[in-house]
Amino acid sequence: MLRATQPFYKTAFMLIVLFDGLTIVEPQVQIISPVKNQIIKFNQSVFFNCTVSLGKNITGTLEWRRDGVLIPTTKKSQYWASFELGALQKDEEGIYECTYSNGESDHVRVCLAEKPQGWPIKFTSPISTLVDEFPTLSCFAMGCPTPNITWFKNYLHQITAPGKDHKYSIDTEIPQPGNQTSDLRIIGVQLDDAGDYACIAVNALGSDSSTITLNVKGKDNPLPTIEAEKPKYTAEVGTKVTLVCVGEQVKDDVFTFVYWTFKGNMLSNSSEHYIVNDFYTLKAGGTPKVQTQLTFLKLNYEDSGNYSCKVDSARGIDSDIVMLEVIPKAQKGENQPKVKRLSEASSLWNSVGWLLREAGHSAHVVTS
Ligand SMILES: *[C@@H]1O[C@H](CO)[C@@H](O)[C@H](O)[C@H]1NC(C)=O
Ligand SMILES: *[C@@H]1O[C@H](CO)[C@@H](O)[C@H](O)[C@H]1NC(C)=O
Ligand SMILES: *[C@@H]1O[C@H](CO)[C@@H](O)[C@H](O)[C@H]1NC(C)=O
Ligand SMILES: *[C@@H]1O[C@H](CO)[C@@H](O)[C@H](O)[C@H]1NC(C)=O
Ligand SMILES: *[C@@H]1O[C@H](CO)[C@@H](O)[C@H](O)[C@H]1NC(C)=O
Ligand SMILES: *[C@@H]1O[C@H](CO)[C@@H](O)[C@H](O)[C@H]1NC(C)=O
Ligand SMILES: *[C@@H]1O[C@H](CO)[C@@H](O)[C@H](O)[C@H]1NC(C)=O
Repeated sequence: MLRATQPFYKTAFMLIVLFDGLTIVEPQVQIISPVKNQIIKFNQSVFFNCTVSLGKNITGTLEWRRDGVLIPTTKKSQYWASFELGALQKDEEGIYECTYSNGESDHVRVCLAEKPQGWPIKFTSPISTLVDEFPTLSCFAMGCPTPNITWFKNYLHQITAPGKDHKYSIDTEIPQPGNQTSDLRIIGVQLDDAGDYACIAVNALGSDSSTITLNVKGKDNPLPTIEAEKPKYTAEVGTKVTLVCVGEQVKDDVFTFVYWTFKGNMLSNSSEHYIVNDFYTLKAGGTPKVQTQLTFLKLNYEDSGNYSCKVDSARGIDSDIVMLEVIPKAQKGENQPKVKRLSEASSLWNSVGWLLREAGHSAHVVTS
């Protein structure tokens, strides 16, 4: 909401609140239905009611408006004004405002419930920065009710501002009703601030998250990189295949992880596949490298897809994608599709039987 680094605004805000508190003894005009952040589903009716406080000398009238346009059909008494929308439609969403003759008013945002959608803004991921800079990561989210945006580092801990050592500032704004932006600023970024920053937009209906990767480059401290040896591997089902990536500036230390992911999951050794990381330098004092290999012992069709090889170190993160396509086994008699099915028969005896049946069938077709 307010930057900790802008005490002036904070003070001004407090003065306004104080001033308001002194002049308005009690709320005069109040929308009692719908309530703020009420969940309204498609085709659901919405009841609107607004009151002006009792015990006053009331001579004026209450009026409802949507986005400034008067709503004519209102049931009303001296103290309240109400109407109902039978089935709320998309084009009836908006800001509904109730105003008393003296100008006092209250408003409520009415919209069809929608779970949040969020995405990074201003920059594309990854962001590369230098030690001691002040990088800003920005996210946008929309939804109904207006989602809240929170930040997480490496999916583990939530970031709160200012945090210890006044490391962060978080600026949240609602540029339009229903839309929210959040800027996470890191003050004097250090090498260990490198990593994945997730902004998570949450409302009562669900959540959405997006990730921004931050790389931090120190002096004489080049960023690690990783690259697939080949962008695509094509291999036959049942065969053994090895996907290879090579990383540069990747040291074999406790701060460095080299790993593979598939469909968002980190892969580890199993009976179907294993991973071997080989750290090396070509000559003394040379660039530290890594070769990482993901080997499948016996390919299944389900192994097809995009694999990511990743390096995650205190100095930064990089990844590359390797596409794996598993194709059926090729056959010697290429242009005979019937024979192709033969390769998948479980035993030679079955295959022979099948061939004989096929032969008999063909003979029958020819003679009829
Ligand atoms: C909306 O609700 C009315 C009854 O309240 C129903 O007749 C109509 O079919 C509904 N429309 C949709 C699109 O669900
Ligand atoms: C609107 O609210 C007032 C105050 O709570 C209540 O007296 C009145 O009956 C309500 N109007 C309708 C139509 O329910
Ligand atoms: C209410 O206000 C009207 C006009 O503003 C005034 O004539 C009337 O005396 C007032 N009544 C009370 C009870 O204050
Ligand atoms: C939110 O922003 C998007 C694009 O910036 C805009 O199209 C949309 O109308 C906004 N939503 C609301 C409720 O203002
Ligand atoms: C969003 O934040 C506001 C204010 O901090 C809080 O009242 C509300 O419950 C939050 N909503 C959700 C869905 O977390
Ligand atoms: C995975 O298997 C390979 C080959 O057997 C082995 O070299 C490697 O150390 C294993 N990795 C882990 C994390 O156990
Ligand atoms: C793999 O990535 C390529 C290009 O990046 C894309 O066209 C393809 O649809 C992806 N395949 C899968 C299974 O996600």
